[in-house]
Amino acid sequence: MKALITGGAGYIGSHTLIALSDAGYDFVVYDNLCNSSKESLARVSKIINRDIDFVEGDIRDKKRLQELFTTYKIDAVIHFAGLKAVGESVEQPIRYYDNNVNGTLVLLDIMQEFKCKKIVFSSSATVYGDPVSTPIEESFRVGGTTNPYGTSKYMIERILEDLVISDSSFQAVILRYFNPVGAHESGTIGEDPNGIPNNLMPFISQVAVGKREYLSVFGGDYDTKDGTGVRDYIHVVDLADAHVKALNYINSKQFNTKNLTFNIGMGVGYSVLDMVKAFERVSKREVPYKIVQRRAGDIAKCFANSLLAKEVLGWSALKTIEDMCIDSWRWQSNNPNGYSDK
Ligand code: NAD
Ligand code: WQD
Repeated sequence: MKALITGGAGYIGSHTLIALSDAGYDFVVYDNLCNSSKESLARVSKIINRDIDFVEGDIRDKKRLQELFTTYKIDAVIHFAGLKAVGESVEQPIRYYDNNVNGTLVLLDIMQEFKCKKIVFSSSATVYGDPVSTPIEESFRVGGTTNPYGTSKYMIERILEDLVISDSSFQAVILRYFNPVGAHESGTIGEDPNGIPNNLMPFISQVAVGKREYLSVFGGDYDTKDGTGVRDYIHVVDLADAHVKALNYINSKQFNTKNLTFNIGMGVGYSVLDMVKAFERVSKREVPYKIVQRRAGDIAKCFANSLLAKEVLGWSALKTIEDMCIDSWRWQSNNPNGYSDK
C-alpha cells in the first residue's frame, strides 16, 4: 500500500513518515517546500534507515500531480499540505484560500481521475471557534471560525463530506488536531518556525535557549484556574500515530461514513503557566514571562473529548506534558537555529 504524503517535509508530516514506516506503509512525499526544507526528509531518512521518495511540487499544479499519480500507484493520500499561520491568513486571505481550498480541490480532482479514493485530512480544533463548553465533542457546532485559515479548514471539511455523500466508494477521515507540540525523541527533527514563533511551545523553547528575553503571556484574566489560556497539547509523535490508525481504519471493514471526523487531543487542558512550569522543570532553565494584553481572537479554554478516536480508531495519546517539554527542549537545544544548523 503506497500513500502520498502531501506536506510531508513539514513539522507533523515529517514525524508521520516515521510512524508510517514503522507500521510498514510505503509512501511518497510531495511538498513545495514553502515552509520546510529537504533537510527534514534527510533526517527522517536517517531515523528510518531508508531512502525517501520525494517529488517537489505544489498541490495546485495539476500537471505535476498527474505525472506523480502516473509514476506511482497511489492507494491513499494523507493531506498535510497547507498554510497555517492564523495572523498571516487575516492579512492574506486570498493566498490562504487559494493554497488551502483551491489546492485541495485540485488534489481531489486528480485523485478522482486516478480512482484514488482514500484520504486522511489535517483539520484543526479551530473549526469549533469559541466552543459553548469543554471538553469539545465532534458533534459540537463548527463554522464559527474567526480567521481565513480556520475557515479554509472548515470549507475543506465540508467539501470532503459532500464528496463522501456523492460517491459511496470514496473514504475520507478528518482529523481535528488540537495543539501539536514536542518532537521526535532523537532530537533531530522538530518544529522549525520562520522568524518570531506565533505558537506557545516554540516561543517558550526559544526563551529557554536564550534566543528571546521573555515570554509574553497573552492575558491573565481569563476564566481559567490561573487566568491564562487553557489548551489541549498533543505530542506530535502521538499525533503521527493517529494517522497510521486512520489509514488502518480506512483500509478496514470497520470504516463507516457515520464516523469520519475525530478529535485528536489528549483530553486534558493545561494553562500557559502550567506549560511554562513544566518546561522549567525539565529544562532546568528559567523561562521569564510577562503577562500582557489578551491576543485578539484567542479563546479562554479549548480541550477535546477524544473518546471517539479511542473507540473507533483505537487511538489515544500516550505521552505526558513532561514528554512534550523534554522532547521540545532536546530538539531546541540541539538545533538552536532549527534545520539551518545542519
Ligand atoms: P508545516 O508548515 O510544517 O507543514 C506543511 C507543509 O506543507 C510544509 O512542508 C509546506 O512546505 C507544505 N505546503 C504548503 N502549501 C503547499 C502547497 N501548495 N503545495 C505543496 N506543499 C505545500 O505545518 P504542520 O504544522 O506540519 O501542519 C500540517 C497540517 O496540519 C497543515 O494542514 C496544518 O494546517 C494542519 N494543522 C496544524 C496544526 C499545528 O498547530 N501545527 C494544528 C492543526 C492543524
Ligand atoms: C496557545 C496558548 C495563547 C503564544 C493555534 C491556532 C490553531 C492551531 C494551533 C492550526 C494561548 C498563549 C501563545 C505566546 C501566549 N493551529 N500564548 N504567548 O492559539 O491555541 O492555536 O495553533 O490549526 O488553529 O489558532 O495556539 O500556541 O498560539 O497558543 O501566551 O507567545 O498560549 O494565548 O492561550 P492556539 P498557540
